[in-house]
Amino acid sequence: MSKIKNIYAREILASGGAPSLEVTVTLESGAIGEASVSYGASAGSKEATVLLDGDKTRYNGKGMLNAISNINNQIKNILVEMEASDQRAIDNKMIETDGTINKAVLGGNAMLGVSLAVARAEASEENLPLYKYLRKVYEIGDIGWKLPKPMIVMIEGGKHADETTDLQEFMVGAMGNKSAAENVRMEMEIYSALKNILKADKLSTNVGNEGAFAPNGIISNEKPIEYLVQAITNAGYVPGVDAGVGIDAAASEFYSEETKKYNLKLEGKELTSEELIAYYKPWIEKYPIATMEDMLSEFDWDNWPKMVEAIGGKFPLIADDLTVTNVNLWQKAIEMKAATAILIKLNQAGTLTETMDCCLLANKNNLITMPSHRGGGETNDTFLVDLAVAVNSAYIKVGPTRGERVCKYNRLMKIEEEINN
Ligand code: PGA
Ligand code: ZN
Repeated sequence: MSKIKNIYAREILASGGAPSLEVTVTLESGAIGEASVSYGASAGSKEATVLLDGDKTRYNGKGMLNAISNINNQIKNILVEMEASDQRAIDNKMIETDGTINKAVLGGNAMLGVSLAVARAEASEENLPLYKYLRKVYEIGDIGWKLPKPMIVMIEGGKHADETTDLQEFMVGAMGNKSAAENVRMEMEIYSALKNILKADKLSTNVGNEGAFAPNGIISNEKPIEYLVQAITNAGYVPGVDAGVGIDAAASEFYSEETKKYNLKLEGKELTSEELIAYYKPWIEKYPIATMEDMLSEFDWDNWPKMVEAIGGKFPLIADDLTVTNVNLWQKAIEMKAATAILIKLNQAGTLTETMDCCLLANKNNLITMPSHRGGGETNDTFLVDLAVAVNSAYIKVGPTRGERVCKYNRLMKIEEEINN
């Protein structure tokens, strides 16, 4: 056990070429923890605030000097001398000091950076790998190790690329009982098979925000599903047995609150919620789907239970923008039977404790969790992987290429080695 001695933040670059922040926490014992914070491109409206400077003369207003000043002054002042092992008290202290529901004063980005760096410092103090320390500090107990399977974004559109599909992400999720390293290998072989399929169809294999292919000229929102099933087969695996398709529509992005309709530009369709569910229905029947996510808008709560019914228990319906890693919204979704799984994004919540509480609530209800990278500005931090391992998440969702993505899979394979030795 050791007390917090110093907290220091600095501006760094995130994957989108705009700043994020990195925090170093030093304990009285000399133990050090560092963490950095990511942020999204298609963020939900109720996410914790990403506090930006707004000074147009620096990084087009996207600087993080104010958030950094909050860390180096207010947050440091309230947390120095607190026991680093008391993570819940530390997070609560920041939440109280901020005093808003969306962390608008101190900034969710500032609070999260500190929260994660404290956990890393104490894990180091206790000589534990982070995933084991998280189990200990949140009193998870011995639930065995069930490593998350990769859910890899293979084709991206929506807000993550220009002139592509209306739906945001088409993924491949590993199925079956392979090791994490074998799952990663299988996925990358499928990615490579997909590249050949796209080329044969005269589509570009340039990549989007998350390192997935982002070709212009795909003819429909359904076509990527066909490509992925073909890629699984071409790589020598069995669709629905070794790997299935994951879809994240990010439907809030093509929903109009005014008309209450979904605008599928690519196909010239404007659909009501019922019509959109009917549009998805054949996919549920026809394809080896592993998960669906945000198939309806975050402003369309009442129709989510109908989507769960349409899926009929075949696979999980994941809430992302709907629940934004917020335990109250997640509780509401569970009670309404609006979703059967939750996407976990640390920066949506803004502290480690609130994020863990969402995961623990899912586990208590036997519902799956999927910790996820962010599309807009991801960093090389791999905290989400340790978190997924600590709570036995079913999947982690991360892109297939670019350093800030592959480092997550490399961390997962390293953890697997550690656990097996
Ligand atoms: P974002 O999107 O990180 O760009 O918001 C990812 C997602 O919707 O899952
Ligand atoms: Zn999403």
